[in-house]
Amino acid sequence: MASPLALVFFLLFLGSGASAHLSTSFYSSSCPNLFGTIKPVLRSAISKERRMGASLLRLFFHDCFVNGCDGSILLSDTANFTGEQHAVPNKKSVRGFEVVGRIKAAVEKACPGIVSCADILAISARDSVVILGGPSWKVKLGRRDARTASKSAANKNIPAPTSSLSNLVSKFAAQGLSTKDMVALSGAHTIGQARCTSFRAHVYNETNINSSFAKERKSKCPRRSGAGDDNLAPLDLRTPTRFDNGYYSNLVRKKGLLHSDQELFNDGPTDSLVRAYSSSSAKFDSDFVAAMVRMGDIRPLTGSNGEIRKKCSRINY
Ligand code: HEM
Ligand SMILES: *[C@@H]1O[C@H](CO)[C@@H](O)[C@H](O)[C@H]1NC(C)=O
Ligand SMILES: *[C@@H]1O[C@H](CO)[C@@H](O)[C@H](O)[C@H]1NC(C)=O
Ligand SMILES: *[C@@H]1O[C@H](CO)[C@@H](O)[C@H](O)[C@H]1NC(C)=O
Repeated sequence: MASPLALVFFLLFLGSGASAHLSTSFYSSSCPNLFGTIKPVLRSAISKERRMGASLLRLFFHDCFVNGCDGSILLSDTANFTGEQHAVPNKKSVRGFEVVGRIKAAVEKACPGIVSCADILAISARDSVVILGGPSWKVKLGRRDARTASKSAANKNIPAPTSSLSNLVSKFAAQGLSTKDMVALSGAHTIGQARCTSFRAHVYNETNINSSFAKERKSKCPRRSGAGDDNLAPLDLRTPTRFDNGYYSNLVRKKGLLHSDQELFNDGPTDSLVRAYSSSSAKFDSDFVAAMVRMGDIRPLTGSNGEIRKKCSRINY
């Protein structure tokens, strides 16, 4: 086990072995009304603010890409700022923790000490997509919660909006996800908002963008860094609170908001897939669902690893 290659194989083996334990019926006897407990809390949060569905979907992505889907992003770290919430892609950006806390409280009341926060994120992501009009799927469950979080892994693994296509491909490959998975999962940007700081360079400095769209976005995102950094714009200009395939139609029209979005349709190898998704919501839906299930399989803690947190924001004492 001393050679680095052997270690890689060992970790791959651990990863694939662990995901085999997830099952769609994991809580069917231990917490039979789990889905019915979660959904109303989510419905009420999303009816108050439609964007919340987007924020919860993103939380699941940012959780899974950092040492697996283990609830690590939910750990709030006020001691030494080494938690994932302090990483660059998350800071002043990820949100939805209060809603996760409310869901967890409801679940703890119904089934104390049974359901992990990692699984709550997986279910919340699915339900959010459904509530906003997207496809449904059966969520695999049985993940346990991490006792640690990693700011450095979050900085390393979560792709930046400045990423090139090859960079996006390799960040997803590092998680065992294909280029097709990456393109399909990016369709999540059919909902939600981004800050000026995330799209400033794309709208001011790049040419693969529709000029009237760029002009519109510039009007609420000052050129100077530091000015209006947190001003928001919708990732999907037309239906930002509806989960549809509009994201891909935007890309075909050169109206992707982020540099990384437009990279998927920029005279490259993923153009044809973007076109296919833009013209078939059925194809997008089925590829998105398959990719969400694969993303949810990333390195879960199972068996006696990790714990079932009592509160999602902190490890058990
Ligand atoms: C392909 C690489 C990706 C990159 C570079 C990327 C980057 C970003 C950035 C920069 C934002 C805006 C953050 C801000 O300005 O505060 C954002 C928002 C968002 N991302 Fe991604 N993302 C990617 C993939 C994904 C995936 C795979 C999902 C989920 C499956 C996802 C879901 C979302 C959602 C729903 C929002 C809006 C969140 C909200 O309104 O609170 N993204 N993303
Ligand atoms: C950060 O603080 C936590 C809890 O106080 C501790 O367990 C952890 O080891 C600390 N991390 C670093 C890198 O100092
Ligand atoms: C645009 O590019 C110029 C020249 O490379 C650079 O100095 C400037 O900071 C960039 N502006 C933005 C908004 O990224
Ligand atoms: C940019 O978008 C506008 C508004 O949808 C459209 O009228 C215009 O033709 C587009 N420009 C280009 C170069 O495609």
